[in-house]
Amino acid sequence: MDYKNFIGGAWAATAESIPNINPSDTTDTIGFAAKGTVSDLDKAIDAAHEAAPGWATSTPQQRFDVLDFIGTEILAREEELGRLLSREEGKTLPEGIGEAARAGQIFKFFAGEALRQSGDHLASVRPGIEVDVTRSPVGVVGLITPWNFPIAIPAWKLAPAICFGNAVVLKPAELVPASAHALVEIVSRAGLPDGVVNLVFGRGSELGPRMIDNEKVNAISFTGSVPTGRGIAAACGAKLKKVQLEMGGKNPMVILDDADLDVAVETCLNGAFFSTGQRCTASSRLIVTEKIHDQFVATLYDRMVALKVGHALEAGIQMGPVVDNRQLEQNLSYVDIASSEGGKVLGGQRLDLATKGFFMAPALVTETSNDMRINREEVFGPVASVVRVKDYDEALAVANDTEFGLSAGICTTSLKHAHHFKRNSQAGMVMVNLPTAGVDYHVPFGGTKGSSFGSREQGRYAAEFYTTVKTAYTLP
Ligand code: UN1
Repeated sequence: MDYKNFIGGAWAATAESIPNINPSDTTDTIGFAAKGTVSDLDKAIDAAHEAAPGWATSTPQQRFDVLDFIGTEILAREEELGRLLSREEGKTLPEGIGEAARAGQIFKFFAGEALRQSGDHLASVRPGIEVDVTRSPVGVVGLITPWNFPIAIPAWKLAPAICFGNAVVLKPAELVPASAHALVEIVSRAGLPDGVVNLVFGRGSELGPRMIDNEKVNAISFTGSVPTGRGIAAACGAKLKKVQLEMGGKNPMVILDDADLDVAVETCLNGAFFSTGQRCTASSRLIVTEKIHDQFVATLYDRMVALKVGHALEAGIQMGPVVDNRQLEQNLSYVDIASSEGGKVLGGQRLDLATKGFFMAPALVTETSNDMRINREEVFGPVASVVRVKDYDEALAVANDTEFGLSAGICTTSLKHAHHFKRNSQAGMVMVNLPTAGVDYHVPFGGTKGSSFGSREQGRYAAEFYTTVKTAYTLP
């Protein structure tokens, strides 16, 4: 299968292509993605620029129909799309199908939002004058998406962009072209005017800077790594270009002595290791008070080593491979770093299984302190560390002692501590007796400190980024 660029309503091949390899079995080449050039990207931006004014004046009914069509088809094909996603990204088949369903639901949500757009009408403070506050589209939005949620993240940027009347150029991660292609193929039949949605595959390092430099791009929404995000923010700042960034996390999960042990273990197993730990919302710092510590670690360890690691598409597999060799090497090097810093590492070794894939055993690093690198830097793999603390106050202080602030959790049966944590955790999303990862699609998503920049994604708050506010005064 060839995944071509989609520019101005037409599929376009490129001279060079990039192979799409299955991380569960590297002998399986799923297809070849276009390797778009800067000139391909410029053409896509031109197409979006031309289409933007027309789509900006589309009716709520047109927007609803387009978004509803896309959502309906994704949901009808969730198994097939989920399988494709798992094959190229490596999350287990149930996780892949779940993600495809989430993408469908996101389009359904924004279909409804298209019908619910409203503004304010106020009396002026001056006599006889009326004031209208309305939202207009931003114009052309560049969407740069990561490999770990190959369909849900493009969906949660694309759906609000369309809903609020913008034109877009989507640049998906090189590692997962098939899901983005399948999504845009559905979008291409949804009744949108040519040029409203464009897709360009290629190297982020080449295309990303051009996306920012090109004057016709009015805003950039990016999900990815911290260094890339910081670079984008600086470049967009210099151009006064609207920007929204979702970056890393080093998400704490606090386990208090009064926690329900089963709930705590289940929550951490899911938060730390599901999706192979490749979630910016993963629970990577388990902060445990001293009375429950030993029992918690022993039980979590038993559950962790029982996790079935293997080919993402095989029935019964609970943890798929790491996405590629570079990421696997990074994970293993963090396991080494943790051990050289004095952490006690359980698991975390490379696995040779029946198929040639990027497999590793999940890792738990105990006896760590919060100043170790393993507790400061994002691994983006199935590696969680445990920090032993005295009490709730110390747990909260350790949880907040990080440059990140995406998601934070607490397992407790104490209403007082749960409530205090919700109020005082310095994270954008707080979970009580629930994993830090795995969020709803109809509420805002985003973090504080080094995790996010700009306004929130998803839910009704998505309007902040995808629109600009206009205040109009009338003397009738
Ligand atoms: C989730 O935890 O359900 O890249 C979503 C990420 C996030 C998405 C997490 N932007 O992992």
